[in-house]
Amino acid sequence: MIPTFFLGIETSCDETAAAVFTDEPAVLANVVASQTDLHARFGGVVPEVAARAHLQRLLPVIDEALRQANVRLDQIAGVAVHHTPGLVGALLVGVSAAKMLAVALDVPLLGVNHVHGHLYACRLAAGRDIFPCVGLVVSGGHTMLFHCRDAVTFERLGGTLDDAAGEAFDKVATLLGLGFPGGPAVEREAAAGDPKAVRLPRPFLHEDRLDFSFSGLKTAVLYALAGQNEPRPAPPPPGKRRADLAASFQEAVVDVLTAKCRQAIRRTGLNRLAVGGGVAANRRLRDALERMAHEEGAELFIPPMGLCTDNAAMAAAAVERWRRGDRSPPDLDAVPTLV
Ligand code: KG4
Ligand code: ZN
Repeated sequence: MIPTFFLGIETSCDETAAAVFTDEPAVLANVVASQTDLHARFGGVVPEVAARAHLQRLLPVIDEALRQANVRLDQIAGVAVHHTPGLVGALLVGVSAAKMLAVALDVPLLGVNHVHGHLYACRLAAGRDIFPCVGLVVSGGHTMLFHCRDAVTFERLGGTLDDAAGEAFDKVATLLGLGFPGGPAVEREAAAGDPKAVRLPRPFLHEDRLDFSFSGLKTAVLYALAGQNEPRPAPPPPGKRRADLAASFQEAVVDVLTAKCRQAIRRTGLNRLAVGGGVAANRRLRDALERMAHEEGAELFIPPMGLCTDNAAMAAAAVERWRRGDRSPPDLDAVPTLV
């Protein structure tokens, strides 16, 4: 049987990405143009810079994805785009391009929730059905737990009350003078440190609730650096102290994320756990979740690194809705907050 081809588009933050996938779903091409170089000197993503870079890069990235997949534009049967949540100016670039292509090709427009997409990346990587499952999304913008009843019905179990886990990694990286993006930098630094060296808080760890809070942990790192009276301490020089702080911080985040996943598994009675988002690229977290899942008799699904961080292949979540006959309206909006 001839497969149905879809184009996926991602521009919610600082990666310009396009993918080609089939209705199976199988990913034929997954192209990501990272903007890290543009934002590094600002120490974080600058929304206006991100939107402009998406404008410049999106069409070449789409062309490259089609070329790699060996699929022509006139073979595309639907255009999927992450339209929420994210930076509104950045989202608008992808959404506008998707609308234009859907009209020009006279094919369905399929809006996808980026957060759900992060969990759908687990389904893609597994190559088989993973639902129902507990879903944890740990990214730069979100830290949320879901009860994923099926491929399209995701009920929120809890989430962060303040910073996202990735955001905490990024802010602590800045405090430690480790640069941007913070997650991989903290992980590298932590490798030489002692995770027990500095006592840091683990909010809600033993409470029977599926929420997170990371802003106090970030402040605790600040105080551990310079005491409570120093408004803005200089980053510590490279060495044991810096590595210990990075390792202790990482351990606190890993402990909390792992404990809440365990609670969610027990509370729902589900025996599958899917974990997506940039922080899921963290080796220490992956190992801790692996151990916990084994203890709980649950199956763990974490995509390979390239499908953890932002990409357009995860927009293949749209295929599930498309199969059910769902189509987005031609006036699909870019919505910055989670809907
Ligand atoms: O999912 P993602 O690419 O973008 C959002 O949707 O936010 O996640 C980016 C976040 C950043 O905060 C980054 O520091 C974090 O994921 N991250 C990591 C690692 N790799 C990326 N955090 C911890 N360890 C890593 N290895
Ligand atoms: Zn993301």
